[in-house]
Amino acid sequence: MHMDLADQIKTLAREKNAIILAHNYQIPEIQDVADFSGDSLELAQIASKNDARMIAFCGVHFMAESAAILSPQKKVIIPDPTAGCPMADMVDADDVIEMKKQNPGAMVVTYINSTASVKAQSDVICTSSNALKIVERVEADTVLFFPDRNLGSYVQRFTKKKIITWNGFCPTHERFTTEDLTAIKKKHPDALVMVHPECRPDVIDMADEVFSTGQMVKFVKSTNSKKIIVGTETDMIHRLKQVAPHIEYIPASDSFICPNMKKINLSVLLGGLRDEETVVTVPQDVREGARKALQRMLDLSY
Ligand code: 13P
Ligand code: SF4
Repeated sequence: MHMDLADQIKTLAREKNAIILAHNYQIPEIQDVADFSGDSLELAQIASKNDARMIAFCGVHFMAESAAILSPQKKVIIPDPTAGCPMADMVDADDVIEMKKQNPGAMVVTYINSTASVKAQSDVICTSSNALKIVERVEADTVLFFPDRNLGSYVQRFTKKKIITWNGFCPTHERFTTEDLTAIKKKHPDALVMVHPECRPDVIDMADEVFSTGQMVKFVKSTNSKKIIVGTETDMIHRLKQVAPHIEYIPASDSFICPNMKKINLSVLLGGLRDEETVVTVPQDVREGARKALQRMLDLSY
């Protein structure tokens, strides 16, 4: 009997004792075949607890790398190793070392969208769902925040601590402007607007709600809103439809697409699982520092 790609993937994953994790921006077919879909924090938590032999990580490189750091005994593969995050590459370890020198006494809170060597220079990691909590819980009044200027300035709205942000950004979210949002709001004046904190500050000012992708999933389960403009990657809508199909979702813009998240499809995933060649590894000296910073985030995320 001929099995379709999704069935072949599920069978192979079972045979190999592998779990498939997918970020909420993955294409619908990948979200559907995955064992778990989620935001960066949820996926890191699952990776750290699960006892499978192998993790097939459908997302971008820093996410798979974080799983490898937290679970060194597991084989972590990313089906397309070129799936990177441009924001993560906007800062390197030397930049962090230099900023620490210039700001003695400050603590480094780094967004999970960063390389392992940047994480290794950080006191603690955060994601978009726990950034404020982490900043409030670190033992310093001044925080150096890498690399996302938009998430950093969003957190600054809610804390008395001084946040010094690096000048990085997500090209996909940065491209979305207040003009775009005004245009889509005009077409749908009755819709609630929810956006990701990687959006520009002026876009955030116009939104009704600001959420990580995991928080968006939780929100639609309980809201009374019937129509929502979704200000983040368009495939997020697939996930939202699964959990709350009665709501009408409007993509904030058709060009709200992360090209790196689209590099993985069913045949790429099947090849990755079959060959086990695209393994994500982190050198031991970098891993230990990065693991401590990631573990501290998990410990402070209660
Ligand atoms: P979340 O943690 O909200 O899923 O965000 C990850 C990301 O890369 C957003 O662009
Ligand atoms: Fe990176 Fe932006 Fe893509 Fe998220 S959407 S993975 S921040 S490039």
